Amino acid sequence: MKLKKVIALTGASSGIGEASARALSHSPHMLVLMARNAGKLNAIAKELECPVLVLETDVTDTNQIESAFKTIQEKFGGLDVLINNAGVGYFDPIDDAKLNEWHTMIDVNIKGVVNCLHYGLPLLKNSVDGQIINVASVAAHQVFQNSGVYSATKHAVGAISKSLHLELGKQLKITTISPGAVDTPFVDNTSNEEMIDDLKKYFAGGLDPTVVAEQIIHCIEQPLNVAISEIIVRPKR
Ligand SMILES: NC(=O)c1ccc[n+]([C@@H]2O[C@H](COP(=O)([O-])OP(=O)(O)OC[C@H]3O[C@@H](n4cnc5c(N)ncnc54)[C@H](OP(=O)(O)O)[C@@H]3O)[C@@H](O)[C@H]2O)c1
Repeated sequence: MKLKKVIALTGASSGIGEASARALSHSPHMLVLMARNAGKLNAIAKELECPVLVLETDVTDTNQIESAFKTIQEKFGGLDVLINNAGVGYFDPIDDAKLNEWHTMIDVNIKGVVNCLHYGLPLLKNSVDGQIINVASVAAHQVFQNSGVYSATKHAVGAISKSLHLELGKQLKITTISPGAVDTPFVDNTSNEEMIDDLKKYFAGGLDPTVVAEQIIHCIEQPLNVAISEIIVRPKR
């Protein structure tokens, strides 16, 4: 019999997060959908089959994250799986990038993950099958042109996952999922007019986000004594 789990998912309003919420709702789990766009989260929640809690949260805001995990404890009595998926990418050559965009990537992709870890860990450590799934990227494994700082943030996510595994691997399952290109609105943030058309074409040829969602579910639905540590999933080119 499948365990009924409380699963918190950041970046649930779009792309990989939305696809994961929809796919997870077919199981007997309870979902916590987190993102800034409450309108989108509520519209998704209405269509899901499982118990859902919508929490309008900015992962960069520590007060909001602290209060979100308090609410999860109060409403569901604990947390079994935290999926750190919220992330942004801005693509630019390093000598023609916008400093505020670099800062936003660091704030969302690194600080957002550590904020959720800080407030989520005490709940996860009380679960019989606690798990953290960090959505990194192939950019956590190699560096691509025009995405130096994005790659740095995803390398950081990879390093945080490895540390979690070293220190807490006996108590928690730590999973890093590293997708290659996925066809989501992710690339629309890029403001570089010379690059945007090519980037859009490249990401449009990427995986459907449901493919990444299936990998996430596969990692969650392993037996108690099995932890999947690392998945790289990318389009066959
Ligand atoms: N698409 C790809 O090719 C690809 C490849 C490898 C890895 N990834 C990673 O996959 C993850 C999901 O990306 P995606 O492709 O699904 O992109 P997406 O469709 O643009 O979704 C990004 C999600 O992150 C949320 N988000 C952004 N800033 C946030 C903030 N400050 N606080 C809370 N939530 C925030 C957005 O929600 P709100 O705007 O509502 O807050 C949205 O739900 C990211 O970590 C990305 O780096 C993507």
